Amino acid sequence: MKPVRVGICGLGTVGGGTFNVLTRNADDIARRAGRPIVIEQVAMRRDNPDCDTTGVKTTNDVFEVAHNPDIDVLVELIGGYDVARELVLTAIENGKHVVTANKALIAVHGNEIFHAAHEKGVIVAFEAAVAGGIPVIKSLREGLGANRIQWLAGIINGTGNYILTHMRDEGRAFEDVLAEAQALGYAEADPTFDIEGIDAAHKLTILASIAYGVPLQFEKAYTEGISRITSEDIEQADNLGYTIKHLGISKRTDAGFELRVHPTLIPKERLLANVHGVKNAIAVMGDAVGPTLYYGAGAGAEPTASAVVADLLDVARDITTAHRYRVPYLAFSGITDVENNLPMLPMEDIVTAYYLRLLAVDRPGVLARVATILSEQGISIEAIIQKEATEGELVPIILLTHRTREKNMNDAIRQLESLADVAGPLTRIRVESLDEQE
Ligand code: HSE
Repeated sequence: MKPVRVGICGLGTVGGGTFNVLTRNADDIARRAGRPIVIEQVAMRRDNPDCDTTGVKTTNDVFEVAHNPDIDVLVELIGGYDVARELVLTAIENGKHVVTANKALIAVHGNEIFHAAHEKGVIVAFEAAVAGGIPVIKSLREGLGANRIQWLAGIINGTGNYILTHMRDEGRAFEDVLAEAQALGYAEADPTFDIEGIDAAHKLTILASIAYGVPLQFEKAYTEGISRITSEDIEQADNLGYTIKHLGISKRTDAGFELRVHPTLIPKERLLANVHGVKNAIAVMGDAVGPTLYYGAGAGAEPTASAVVADLLDVARDITTAHRYRVPYLAFSGITDVENNLPMLPMEDIVTAYYLRLLAVDRPGVLARVATILSEQGISIEAIIQKEATEGELVPIILLTHRTREKNMNDAIRQLESLADVAGPLTRIRVESLDEQE
């Protein structure tokens, strides 16, 4: 059978991993695909010392691959938005299928790219864009195709989870653990994407589209990073029976869809609370199947290559199928307009429980004033911890609330911070039970 000829653009961490997995497992991959998948050309800015490219055609111009008539599938592993967009659109224009690991590209330009690919009848596959080696896109798009998805929540940034895990277990400094994650090839080129939740929001945007059948709407995602979490918050959460994780959460409600990334308290007994290091995990609740969980390495050379190569296998198998019979890019056919769908909800309209930590003067009536403000906003308190203070010192007050609307909590926080007895801004972390009944 005629081989499928692949052009790899980018030979960094993921490109190198893809090159090596395709080469090492060529025989098994050919048997699975029903035809060999061969590396016809590699575009790279510099050599990757882990890859032996002897005998493979190389170039330093990625667009050469997009125009090469001998390439069937362009594998985009250069990352970023603009050049990657132009590269992928050029490859599509030239009738090539595309496999990409670029979540930023899909989350921001995916609607345009899928439209162009549909017009040309080519495949754009992007399993590696979300959660590294975990086949969560395939699971959502195909395996759960019978379900109305109710919510999904996941640890979808390996670097952030690696940092939180090592800070907690080894008491190491944030910068120290981040440098290690960078050296291991987990972090984005701009690591603020990991720490501030932008990378997770890219991935959540993609998951939500596939889950609900709505266009990609990255600009509607709420993002909050992990840099303001203190060891005291981690300890207090632990005392209350919770673990703090940086989660991407999307829920279907009657009013619309929630799309949010933020540090979150989750009950310690949840499986997600026990996902550590660079591992990712995504919990998905379907109305028919109930709760499901997808777990594995969320970043790194060969775990991500595993997803890239799985996409190449799909392309190789689908290559002779008329595109109207293929699995749609975002799982649902004809996703084009935002207007005819339920909206992505503004953050003020989401409903969740909250952990609050504030510093107050230790004198009679302070707790009562705090409780009154919350009660006037209709916010009910589930637990309060007030730590002892030596005379004259500020005392930390930790509150756990029942579920309430974010707008009411924002109003309450503004009033609490303006109390004369309360010092400085308070810490707010959202709490999710991730209960199977929700
Ligand atoms: N920087 C990303 C992460 C890489 O840490 O999860 C995988 O997308």
